[in-house]
Amino acid sequence: MVHKRKKVAVIGAGFVGSTAAHWAAQKELGDVVLLDINEGAAKGKALDLFEASPVEQFDSKVTGTADYKDIADSDVVILTAGMPRKPGMSRDDLLQTNAKIVKACCEGIKKYAPNSVVIVVSNPLDAMCTVAKQVLGFPRERVIGMAGVLDSARFRSFVAEALDVSVKDVQGFTLGGHGDTMVPMPRYCFVGGVPLAELLPQDKIDAIVNRAVNGGAEIVKLLQTGSAYYAPSASAVQMAEAILKDQGRILPCAVELDGEYGFKGLFMGVLVRLDGKGFKKVIELKLNDQERAMLEKSGAAVRELVEALAKLQY
Ligand code: LAC
Repeated sequence: MVHKRKKVAVIGAGFVGSTAAHWAAQKELGDVVLLDINEGAAKGKALDLFEASPVEQFDSKVTGTADYKDIADSDVVILTAGMPRKPGMSRDDLLQTNAKIVKACCEGIKKYAPNSVVIVVSNPLDAMCTVAKQVLGFPRERVIGMAGVLDSARFRSFVAEALDVSVKDVQGFTLGGHGDTMVPMPRYCFVGGVPLAELLPQDKIDAIVNRAVNGGAEIVKLLQTGSAYYAPSASAVQMAEAILKDQGRILPCAVELDGEYGFKGLFMGVLVRLDGKGFKKVIELKLNDQERAMLEKSGAAVRELVEALAKLQY
């Protein structure tokens, strides 16, 4: 029997990348290739993870490399390479450094995995998606940024905690850019099918929204030496799983808008349907005035960053 497993490449063997490799391998999403310019780190972490497979009982081959040839024929590429922010920095402060890194990575991806779906995780997310899309030249369906799943996961965790209920019963999503202007959508948060507003007073909801928006910075401040990686990598792998298994899941992802919500050519978080070919469909919601204003503000912030990017050498 000819048996071909799916293949997932993870670019960047830092905390986000190696943890993404861990989740992907453990979920048996396919064989995992971990790539980093630091070959020893990629090979060492991959080998270590592979050696955990008999214990954890997963049939995923995990290999490490510094050579883009080894990502050939990947179905999904998770791009995590880049510097994380330090305390006091915003995601936007990483613009030039990470644009260079993302560009170099995307040249390798374009050459060796031209049919892959690329999930961008590097920050500042929406701007790095723009760089990736330009360098890759892939159709918009196959360049997707991870932010909304993470931002919503933070929101959902805090809601579950506040109500003392299972995280499994808390649904919700955020829209907009992955920055200080992101747009949480508590109006669409449901707990066991019940609207959140029927379960929590507005001031508590506002506090949770605020904590979720600043969730990345809260972790940066605690860690002091880097930024979050468990929830970011889990979120990227949930998207990879939806694609690899052609699940048709509805998840908030950063995609290049083509007129949706009135934006064109701009990457921003929206609800999409993910399937085996990337994202198929943007689900456009009827926003109320406040949500609309917040999304406009978020779009303006992303646009400003993309314009700053256009002026940089990278
Ligand atoms: C965060 C980084 C990964 O939100 O953007 O933690």
